[in-house]
Amino acid sequence: MKRGGILFKMLMVPLLLAFGLFFHISIVSGDYPIEQFSLNSGREIFDSNCAGCHGEKGDGSVFKGAFNFTNNELMIINNSSVFFDAVTNGVPGTAMPPFGKLSIPQRWDVVSYLWTFWMDFTEVEHGKTIYQKNCASCHGINGDGSGITGAFDFTNVSRMVREEPEVIFTRVSDGVDGTSMPSWKDSLSVDERWNIVKYIWTFQFKGYFQIRQPSLITPNTERTLSSEAWYSSPIGMAIIAISILLAIAVLYLFGKGMKER
Ligand code: HEC
Ligand code: HEC
Repeated sequence: MKRGGILFKMLMVPLLLAFGLFFHISIVSGDYPIEQFSLNSGREIFDSNCAGCHGEKGDGSVFKGAFNFTNNELMIINNSSVFFDAVTNGVPGTAMPPFGKLSIPQRWDVVSYLWTFWMDFTEVEHGKTIYQKNCASCHGINGDGSGITGAFDFTNVSRMVREEPEVIFTRVSDGVDGTSMPSWKDSLSVDERWNIVKYIWTFQFKGYFQIRQPSLITPNTERTLSSEAWYSSPIGMAIIAISILLAIAVLYLFGKGMKER
């Protein structure tokens, strides 16, 4: 009788740990984006929640002290993760409020839209031409690293949200030691390299080239509420299925433990 109780307890510990781990993973990974951001959605959210302080053009012109997203010096040392945290938690001690009421995908979408204030369209178009000529053979025409194995994938948003434009610029200029990524310092001018960095930034977004031409904007139907939830993704469903199985196992063992008592 006593032995059954001990066995039951010994089984419970790993089961509960596994349970906790699955939920932990699901919550943590839920914060990181896995698909490209929607600028259409980002624009709508910005216009109704942020433009009142940051200005419709993102230049911080309406509320005194609001961040200016057209300021090159500020933008190139920032990244989307930092912006995401500011939108999620606000900036304590300033007028910047938290936006926990926006869903996680909505927050990533609006953060992406902030970059469009920094990315001058003419420069991006210029960068596109140089990219296609010099970089696409390795990094792929769509920036997905499909040209050669090991080339960096600029559509990998969970990686890109942690990159600063200045760091990307340095890597383009100096190359990456120990890889086939060459240095472009001598063959491309400073302006050309910056324009490429701005073009590279567009690979994170859906519809950058449409959003610069307002007549082409379609209503945002890409995301519905149900598809936003983590539990509707394949991984989420697998987590739920495994959790249910674990719960059944726990109940079964519990019943067995009771019987033996
Ligand atoms: C009530 C006015 C107000 C509103 C509304 C507002 N902001 Fe801000 N925001 C500010 C101010 C002021 C700052 C500057 C805070 C500081 O000094 O660091 C700021 C800073 C920021 C920053 C930069 C934080 C950093 O890293 O320094 C981001 C990103 C930002 N806002 C995004 C947004 C977004 C996105 C929205 C809408 C969803 C929004 N803000 C709505 C006032 C506002
Ligand atoms: C001969 C193939 C090749 C060419 C051409 C090439 N790259 Fe690369 N690039 C690579 C490889 C391989 C890596 C992966 C190095 C690594 O692991 O970060 C890389 C990495 C990078 C990175 C670093 C990303 C990061 O944050 O680690 C940037 C930025 C980059 N390339 C931009 C460019 C640009 C812009 C051009 C064109 C001007 C270009 N590359 C041309 C092969 C190439």
